[in-house]
Amino acid sequence: MKVLVVGGGAREHALAGKLARSPRVTEVLVAPGNAGTAEVATNLPIAAGDLDALVRAAREHAVGLVVVGPEAPLVAGLVDALEAAGVPTFGPSASAARLEGSKGFAKDFMARHGIPTAAYRVFDDAAQAAAWVRELDRPMVVKADGLAAGKGVVVAATVDETLAALDSILLAREHGDAGARVVVEERLEGPEISFHVVCDGVRTVPLAAAQDHKRLRDGDRGPNTGGMGAYSPPPMVDAALERAILERVVEPTLRGMAAEGAPFRGVLFVGLMLVGGEPRVLEYNVRFGDPETSVLMARLDGDILPLLLGAARGDLGGVEVRWGAPAALSVVVASEGYPGACPEGRAIEGLARAAALDGVTVYHAGTRREGERVIASGGRVLCVTARGESVPDAAARAYAAVDAITLEGAQHRRDIGWQAR
Ligand code: AMP
Ligand code: GLY
Repeated sequence: MKVLVVGGGAREHALAGKLARSPRVTEVLVAPGNAGTAEVATNLPIAAGDLDALVRAAREHAVGLVVVGPEAPLVAGLVDALEAAGVPTFGPSASAARLEGSKGFAKDFMARHGIPTAAYRVFDDAAQAAAWVRELDRPMVVKADGLAAGKGVVVAATVDETLAALDSILLAREHGDAGARVVVEERLEGPEISFHVVCDGVRTVPLAAAQDHKRLRDGDRGPNTGGMGAYSPPPMVDAALERAILERVVEPTLRGMAAEGAPFRGVLFVGLMLVGGEPRVLEYNVRFGDPETSVLMARLDGDILPLLLGAARGDLGGVEVRWGAPAALSVVVASEGYPGACPEGRAIEGLARAAALDGVTVYHAGTRREGERVIASGGRVLCVTARGESVPDAAARAYAAVDAITLEGAQHRRDIGWQAR
């Protein structure tokens, strides 16, 4: 079977690499991919947002499965379009993707179904929102309702910062129409974890818990990013907590979506904060996390096709996952300037030396091949990943690989996995 992976980051490289090793997969295509995916698959020059061209390519190449990486095409209805064209697709319908596409929808949904989350209100009027914040007289979290490439959330430290966030999102439209509505919610404190569950609409296959590091700099300081590194398993998640997450969050979410006429198929990635050890939902994502996918794919043994195809076909009956490596850890290497504007075209050296180290896989994100050279072409450039016997072991291997790579001006964190090291 041919499989098409949509997207061009480390998440898609990790998924394409795993799919390429499936005995049932004859060819992996990636649209648009990067220099790393070109080594395990065939890149197609189609943007992840070009829905018509993706549907055409899936039919032309007679692919048996499409796996959609990023959220924007899911929210825009790519799965609906592919299924209408008869192509089995891993990912939720546009209607189910509202869990990520509208934070207001997600909060109201959680309220309707008794799913634990921060107290909140939704506003489209800046004056009313500001009046509520002044009345509460507490710093709050302000979130643009729609997709904002992970940049639409302000965790304010003061009331003034909260009011300024309302102004820039609702009035100045910093994120365009994604900020025509905002969620204003209470600030929670506690460790964050990422929990992925593959779903076929009814049945679930939970994956291993992971933890991302959203801030740019060591010690969880600096601006929020798409994620600077991840590891699995996080020590704060034991079997009892995993059961609580499944019973209090995942199962009511899937029952609720089915009852509301939008059964969820694909991977539900719940961003949770543990408040006094109890799980509360910060956000839903309707796709695999990045960089979380790199550590999940590094730990996973065996064929991934039955999992993705089972979810796409609505039948995960009998599908199980096996965790081969006890731990894995990923360090993101980002360009100078990230998460702001970044220079393009700088050469990356040492990739082969890093990849030759035991247990290491270097997943590419913003990279492009230019003749013999691989050059940086985006904010997050590489996701250097290692398997290990424990998190500290995986960390030592991943950092040895990071140290073998050079890219002028590159930034990375030295403390990924600090809560487990
Ligand atoms: P989100 O995109 O909703 O996950 O928000 C981005 C980041 O903002 C999260 O990873 C958290 O670190 C932080 N955040 C979101 N909601 C809250 C909240 N209610 N309290 C504290 N921090 C939050
Ligand atoms: N790592 C967080 C995300 O993929 O949204």
